[in-house]
Amino acid sequence: MKIAIASDHGAFELKESIKKHLEDCKIGYNDFGCYSKESVDYPKFAYLAASAVARGEYDFGIILCTTGLGVSMAANKVKGIRAAVCTNEMLAEMTRRHNNANVICMGQKVVSPELANKLVDIFLSTGFEGGRHSRRVDLLTDIENGKQLS
Ligand code: RB5
Repeated sequence: MKIAIASDHGAFELKESIKKHLEDCKIGYNDFGCYSKESVDYPKFAYLAASAVARGEYDFGIILCTTGLGVSMAANKVKGIRAAVCTNEMLAEMTRRHNNANVICMGQKVVSPELANKLVDIFLSTGFEGGRHSRRVDLLTDIENGKQLS
């Protein structure tokens, strides 16, 4: 499994701690930045990681900012990305089971490093249920493609 990870300055420390956790779990990743606590613009880093996931170069993305919100908005504008802000275990599990999310977003001011690692573990190990949820995920793609839903 290969992970694309990115953050802005507001979650630089959380990114470093999640990277350590991925290394401990022997999960490969590529860090798309940022690379220091110097102030940067979160959409760029969310875009770099999310577009690499959308191109199929990585299985999942982990994208972080102070709140998780801004990066999720940026990532969800990339075609093929289903990014979910997760703040607890249930959300991390359900967004994989029902939404087939391919990016987890978290906020450094929202989750502790320990909880973030737990949410990453759940997100990466939970499968998509398919069935009726496939139809709903397909409808998300229809919206993305500008199709009118009735
Ligand atoms: C940066 O100050 C902050 O706005 C950013 O990390 C993020 O939380 C935006 O949604």
